[in-house]
Amino acid sequence: MLYRVTVREPLVVPAPAKLNLGLEVLGKRPDGYHELVTILQTIDLSDRLILEPAPRLAYQPPPGISDDLVARALQFLTEKGVVIEAHLSLEKHIPVAAGLGGGSSDAGTLLGAFVHAGLPRLLAVAIATQLGSDVPFFLDGGTALARGRGTDLVPLPPPNGWFVLVVPELTLAHKTRQLYAALSPADYSDGMATLRQAERLRLGQNLDPQLVRNAFLRPLLTFEAVRRTLDAFLTAGARWAWPSGAGPTVFTWSPQRAAAEQLTLALERSGLRPILAVPLQPSWEQVRAGITVEQYH
Ligand code: C5P
Repeated sequence: MLYRVTVREPLVVPAPAKLNLGLEVLGKRPDGYHELVTILQTIDLSDRLILEPAPRLAYQPPPGISDDLVARALQFLTEKGVVIEAHLSLEKHIPVAAGLGGGSSDAGTLLGAFVHAGLPRLLAVAIATQLGSDVPFFLDGGTALARGRGTDLVPLPPPNGWFVLVVPELTLAHKTRQLYAALSPADYSDGMATLRQAERLRLGQNLDPQLVRNAFLRPLLTFEAVRRTLDAFLTAGARWAWPSGAGPTVFTWSPQRAAAEQLTLALERSGLRPILAVPLQPSWEQVRAGITVEQYH
């Protein structure tokens, strides 16, 4: 079956960053990936996908992006017989290579927009899974427990509260792959802490900082920029701080807005550039109204 996706009115779709509210690695899988238990959360720090009506597909990539997942998503869609009538561009706001999932979100949110407008989910999930382990989550965003390679997703209710994050200055080629390669069995755990955290959210309870784990902590602590950022959080008054996913972004969470704001100010005074963020539940109403998906032969 072939599909035509038509953008009927100008749309600006936020492609949100994500945090990993805990990430446990259970071990290595036969396919070379690692088996994960993690909680993924979209936050209100977003790139912007700009979609406009056009007779055929035109994509204007942002400057300076090396591995453009949006371009690859469009290529996969075209290969699967999806005709896209739209002009697309992308405004970057999420720091790149920070572990905030920016590139994955740009591609995953675009696929999500088409799914929520009527493109078959299975088709989009297959493409998203090929693009990267984090990409399928962004088809819906929100809060999810992710297992397997990171692509087996169960939606959860969001936590309440505020996140404060800092992106340490760390450039590492093929960062995610390198960090996975640096894991040893001593970094593996059974996933129970993250599963208990997920159960708390499912019951409407709030995050328990004691249940946050990060399998990459040991390898990440070998980088001075990460150590300094974690220390800066504690010095600024945070009770705890963790890397998000494979880092290097470091975050903390507070149920109180005033405490998060105070911490943000203290981190600014120490010379860092903290980002204050809240959980974000994407809304797909405008894409449903502005994009048409139809079958053709
Ligand atoms: O899936 P993605 O392309 O984002 O993964 C990048 C790299 O991270 C993989 O090539 C693999 O080395 C590693 N990875 C892993 N286990 C996962 C996810 C990623 O080992 N669950």
